[in-house]
Amino acid sequence: MLTRNGFGVWSLVSKRAFKAIFNSPSLEVIENFKKKGFSDLKEIAIYIHFPFCHSICLFCPYVRYPLTKFGNEIFSKYIEALNSEMEIYGSMLRELGLKVKVADVHIGGGTPSLLEAENFQSLRESIRQSFDAEVSLAIEANPDDLADQEKAFKLADAGVNEVSLGVQSFNPEALRKLGRVHGVTQSVQAIQNLKDSGIGHINIDLMYMIPSKIGQPLQSLKEWEEDLSQASEQPVDEITCYPTLITNYSLGWKLVSRGEISQPSKKVFKQMVYMAEDYLTSKGFIPLEIYGYSKHSDWKYVTVNYEMEGSLLGLGCGAAGFVNGYEYQNTCFVPDYIECVREKKLPIAGIREVDKLEHAIRFAVCELFVCRSLSFDVFKRKFGLEFHELIGKSGFGRFLKMLKLLGKIKEKPEGLELTREGLFTAQQICWSFVLNVPCRISEEFMKEVCPSKVAIP
Ligand SMILES: C[S@@+](CC[C@H](N)C(=O)[O-])C[C@H]1O[C@@H](n2cnc3c(N)ncnc32)[C@H](O)[C@@H]1O
Ligand code: SF4
Repeated sequence: MLTRNGFGVWSLVSKRAFKAIFNSPSLEVIENFKKKGFSDLKEIAIYIHFPFCHSICLFCPYVRYPLTKFGNEIFSKYIEALNSEMEIYGSMLRELGLKVKVADVHIGGGTPSLLEAENFQSLRESIRQSFDAEVSLAIEANPDDLADQEKAFKLADAGVNEVSLGVQSFNPEALRKLGRVHGVTQSVQAIQNLKDSGIGHINIDLMYMIPSKIGQPLQSLKEWEEDLSQASEQPVDEITCYPTLITNYSLGWKLVSRGEISQPSKKVFKQMVYMAEDYLTSKGFIPLEIYGYSKHSDWKYVTVNYEMEGSLLGLGCGAAGFVNGYEYQNTCFVPDYIECVREKKLPIAGIREVDKLEHAIRFAVCELFVCRSLSFDVFKRKFGLEFHELIGKSGFGRFLKMLKLLGKIKEKPEGLELTREGLFTAQQICWSFVLNVPCRISEEFMKEVCPSKVAIP
């Protein structure tokens, strides 16, 4: 099973390689974060978390709550809170005399498509006021929210220019097994509506390695090929393929711990990975990430994976951010989030400093094992040192040497590259890291409102 201990040696490597302690922020730490974190900041990406869904899918690993817990009236309160959080950062930047460029704004969740066009307009207005930036928005969406053509058109008018749609599968049985509430017809309709609305770029997410109840047939390679085939025929710019990861805090965990469900074998996992690679590239999609295939060499829907690439300001309940050597986690509790920003306090529940070597290693991992290659020039520009000088003698440097000997990566004068042989290794490294680091961080911060300390693993 694709759980945090389910990747054998890779699970152990992820746990050993990454150790972190997040502390509850004291006034002094917040002051340092403001001064050091934001000094010299020239550009930021913004990620806004919207933690509400109509209903919760069986294996969802994100910070999300069923709407029934709060009722629809939470939306206006939440948007107001987001506006306040932006004002806090905006006035901080003004106090520091900084004018920062906003590179892009992604809204994820949860299900941001539950919001109406006016809400997105209001968020853009807040960004304009707080960061003096004119932006378009990239949002995650559920097909059932966009099966109505008018909504898609209104979102495009409100400045939404990229949409990542959670199609997951074109097989009704697979949707049922994941606990999805939309049908295949709604997905196809939503894609067409987005296309007709003129929204700039459309990504669709697919899921594979779908768990089944014991006794029911497991997802087959044939079914996965059928999904890839249907996806490639849609008028979309990108297809992203996620194996179904299983966290301890997902609704389906109980079934897993009672031994009531299973997933296709590791051998089939590997075959599914190479099937996606071969099928989608044969249809003209370019492999820009190990799981993302785009029709354009210069566009992909980027969520929060690249937190280590540049400065990422995470806003909203449950968001994580990374600014100039500080990594922080906002509170994962909605009432706490709203109360904090009302009192003009940053809603940070845990924060830690990240040293240069750790930053460099996480950047290199993202580049090589997610984006498939690492340029030595880009590395040097970012960290001011040669790759081999900074990384060479570290444990990570030795790990890379071993992967080179095994033929999983190769070195060229300009940088490192993942080989075809290394694709499945990279998948295992990537997903065991996701389960053991970001998912573990969310899990810990969802347990207690103000933990004094959170240690990972
Ligand atoms: C936050 S959700 C996207 C928006 C929307 N809430 C939805 O589900 O359609 C991001 C994507 O994560 C993927 N996902 C969901 N559960 C997952 C799991 N257990 N393992 C891996 N990926 C998962 C799905 O493909 C989903 O579209
Ligand atoms: S997968 Fe998407 S719709 Fe389902 S619970 Fe998670 S965030 Fe909500």
